[in-house]
Amino acid sequence: MTNFWLIPDNEKRIDDLIDKMTLEEKIGQMTQLSPSIVGGFDLPFPELIEMLTEGRIGQEEFKKIMQNAEMDYREDQIRAGKIGSFLLNNPTKANELQRIAVEESRLGIPLIFGFDVIHGFKTVFPIPLAEACIWDEDIFAQTARISAREARSHNIHWAFSPMLDVSRDARWGRIAESPGEDPFLASVYARAKVRGLQGNAPGADDHVAACLKHYIAYGAAESGQDYNTVSMADSLLYNVYLPPFQSGVAAGAATVMSAFNDYNGVPCTINEFLLRDLLKERLGFAGFVVSDANSIDDCIRHGSTADLEEAALKSCLAGLDMDMNSHAYSTYLKKLVEQGDIPSELLDDAVRRILRIKMGLGLFDHPYVSQEKMSLYDVLPDEHIELARETARRSIVLLKNEDNILPIDQSRRVALIGELADLPEEVVGSWAMGFNVTDCVSIRQGLLNAGLEIFYEKTCGVASPFDPDELQRAADRADVIIAVVGELISMSGEAASRADISLPGQQETMLKAALKTGKPVIAVLMNGRPLAIPWLKDHVPVIVEAWQLGIQMGNAVADVLLGDYNPSGKLSCTFPAQVGQCPRYYNHPSTGRPGAKSKFSSRYLDAPLEPLFPFGFGLSYTTFSYDNLKVEQTADQVLASVEISNTGKYAGEETVQLYIQDITASLVRPVKELKAFTKILLQPGQRTTVSLAVPKAHMGFYNNTMDHRLEDGAFNIYVGTNFRDCLQERIDIAF
Ligand code: GLC
Repeated sequence: MTNFWLIPDNEKRIDDLIDKMTLEEKIGQMTQLSPSIVGGFDLPFPELIEMLTEGRIGQEEFKKIMQNAEMDYREDQIRAGKIGSFLLNNPTKANELQRIAVEESRLGIPLIFGFDVIHGFKTVFPIPLAEACIWDEDIFAQTARISAREARSHNIHWAFSPMLDVSRDARWGRIAESPGEDPFLASVYARAKVRGLQGNAPGADDHVAACLKHYIAYGAAESGQDYNTVSMADSLLYNVYLPPFQSGVAAGAATVMSAFNDYNGVPCTINEFLLRDLLKERLGFAGFVVSDANSIDDCIRHGSTADLEEAALKSCLAGLDMDMNSHAYSTYLKKLVEQGDIPSELLDDAVRRILRIKMGLGLFDHPYVSQEKMSLYDVLPDEHIELARETARRSIVLLKNEDNILPIDQSRRVALIGELADLPEEVVGSWAMGFNVTDCVSIRQGLLNAGLEIFYEKTCGVASPFDPDELQRAADRADVIIAVVGELISMSGEAASRADISLPGQQETMLKAALKTGKPVIAVLMNGRPLAIPWLKDHVPVIVEAWQLGIQMGNAVADVLLGDYNPSGKLSCTFPAQVGQCPRYYNHPSTGRPGAKSKFSSRYLDAPLEPLFPFGFGLSYTTFSYDNLKVEQTADQVLASVEISNTGKYAGEETVQLYIQDITASLVRPVKELKAFTKILLQPGQRTTVSLAVPKAHMGFYNNTMDHRLEDGAFNIYVGTNFRDCLQERIDIAF
């Protein structure tokens, strides 16, 4: 695997540096801290966080409080070479700390500043679960490139992204941050994000180091409960959860972050099989592994280590290179090395990996950011805003459009209801922390910008009661109702799992009342996870999945509702019919008793087997027909071709999906696996032939000893508009 961080001259410089470093200085490079808050506000910090999480104070108010906080940046420890990295989003302070490290410490090794730049920074793009609905590697890379450019100008060298946790359980709050449930789509997303963030050569000062997280299988947390235990066959790890990380490593990712969860009983942070054997040796990862926040300390509560000293020992032996803020390494590594429990070579390897990335980023040559560069994006460039709008509208998924109510004509008088329609700060979704709320366009503002006549009434909050009078007031003056319903940002993301994934509060009551007015009702969903909304699917004529689309959400929703953009999004995750079906995903094994026909089959007595909306699903304002699937094979590929026509009135973009099924194998295989896709734009009446190829090497699977199996036999090849609606051909393959 070529890795552009392995630069011979740099490796030589690193050798020389390591030879000069003391044990304390090596441990310093392995230590990342967040500035500690020492006060400056009335309440204890944990209470402030609780108030923020519960929505008792908003983001803006919290920011203001934090600006006055007194922080301890431990300048003396930096000067002594005992800190190598900060989690920091403060460009001016970063320069000050950098100056101490570079000009006042003995060896002048620069700090690396990391921050959560997950789906944008000043320009916030759709949450990853939404962006993945675009199925377009190029735009995945473009949003990462803009994010990197803005973050680097803000003295952030390292983005803690992309998050690559394949997520099959809608109860899990962090599904919002993920590229969804499919390993193939997540692998395309992974390599695009790494290339977008890092560029094609290190040293460029408008790129950042990427961080593949959370390694590994965090999305498989039992019962969708965050931080919960993870147990699975190793073959499932290799075939479903590892591929996006393999793709990110192959694309040259600089860093990996260990996950909070245990994997088959051993916390990832101290799991030598995962970190050293699999990631560093088997995959050849040449960067460094950072723990998740305080996850070394978490090993005590996992019951895997007796105390922080043992956690430090086991983490370092397992191959964890940098400690995020648990103080385990800075407190215990010196003693552990001096008493011979940890070979000093392990520290040299960790330090080499860390210095490799710092040097590759050019930090030794240009460690500071000018004031001019810091303010480069105080006003967002048009290019960034346009990309935010383009990405937002392409992430929208049209789930239902009865009687073609959409698109609406600009002359329609619109009753706009729902609290979320008028909350600009709610459009950004979880893990957005570099933006200005003045850059956020609410749905209400977007519809006004589009020139619609709007009668807005809040009518119902996510957590506040439905007011029928407000509904009536708006509905009486309009001829169509747009109801914005969904979740608050605080209801998804980290530590935000839900055991009930229906619409919170009385929002469904509001929709029922809206339907009773007799006016056409358009439901626009603003949410961070698939929702179980069977009543909406059965009764509301139009359902638009608008997720949390970032700063341009309002304009993007208006573009779609008015037909200025024909929706093309395809679900990156399955929508369960009810929470009892979770985890619900398309690429499941057949079982010995598939289907729901006979009593003795794999099904529920009290729930449907089918999901509400399948993976890959998304409607358009036009329609497409698929005909004449042909499948053939060459020595190393399977080739499929299909004729697709635009049979409707609008030009539209279609994502053509190819799935395979290995019908008989030595391990049970999924009923379908996505292996290729492509996007086409067809004018009304246009017909074209689409060809897709799958390398035969991609049609195998890993067994439990990570042997890659290519087993001769019959395969089904499916090509279609989503996982469920496909043409099928069978083919016998000899590898
Ligand atoms: C958090 C998250 C991780 C994030 C890190 C730093 O707990 O799990 O995704 O990058 O801490 O904020």
